[in-house]
Amino acid sequence: MKIRKAVIPAAGFGTRFLPVTKSQPKEMIPVVDKPVIQYVVEEAVNSGITDILLIIGRGKRAIEEYFDRSWELEKALEEKGKIEQLNQLRAITNLANIHFVWQKELNGLGHAITHARTFVGNEPFAVLLGDTLLESDNEPVTMQLIKQYNKKKRSIVALENVPPELVHRYGIIDGIEEGEGLFKAKNFIEKPRAEEAPSTMAVASRYVFTPSIFDMLDNTPVGLNGEIQLTDAMRMLLLQEEIYGFCFEGTRYDIGNKLNFIKTNLIYGLKNQEIGPELKKWLENFLGK
Ligand code: G1P
Repeated sequence: MKIRKAVIPAAGFGTRFLPVTKSQPKEMIPVVDKPVIQYVVEEAVNSGITDILLIIGRGKRAIEEYFDRSWELEKALEEKGKIEQLNQLRAITNLANIHFVWQKELNGLGHAITHARTFVGNEPFAVLLGDTLLESDNEPVTMQLIKQYNKKKRSIVALENVPPELVHRYGIIDGIEEGEGLFKAKNFIEKPRAEEAPSTMAVASRYVFTPSIFDMLDNTPVGLNGEIQLTDAMRMLLLQEEIYGFCFEGTRYDIGNKLNFIKTNLIYGLKNQEIGPELKKWLENFLGK
């Protein structure tokens, strides 16, 4: 079955980025001139996704408004003949069929995904975490995962090799390498201590699941940090179906924390046609090169 649906959880508080996230969703934080969530939606669309469910919560209305049409603004731009900006605004609303659901209590990533059950139905689907950009030279990372899914017809997660001192921040796979970047999972552990981690291969913000994950989530007990962990549901799924991991081609930018946000803006800014050359000159000068 062709994968055409994606789920983007975007309900979290964004505590790593307070105080800005007190009234501003972390997914709306800009990278150069677009909010992070737009890059994530574009990755899904460029991977063949037509329907996207955004899981939002309190204080996330800015995300809804961003994907809605802004008639007054469009009219004003039209009257002033600012056609380029007008087309840019309209393109945002036409990216995909965007649906919303509210996660009323924040009980973890696994709990968020349970809200997608009616939207997804009985189809395989992609999950893209709403605060992380994945940049690739060729195919979008979600498309890379979908291609691997089409070969195996089993759930598959994006993997990234991280330094041992950072394994405690991620879901970590214990897997058997099958070649060409593919791993067959034996186990997944959520945020292990370095000495307990079975590997340094981290689950990196993109997933494709068979719909069986929902039955697992319904039976997943509260786990780490008092939350329903997606990683625990994946471990349960492993008892019934194989799950694979895939080392994607590309680079991950997690903008949910201050340092990475600044770095990501510099990297994207330097690559930007409009501001890149000037930014580079200024930076070199500023750093005394
Ligand atoms: C979540 C997942 C974790 C995964 C990570 C990727 O953690 O629970 O398994 O490795 O995303 O970014 P979070 O970053 O929400 O704490």
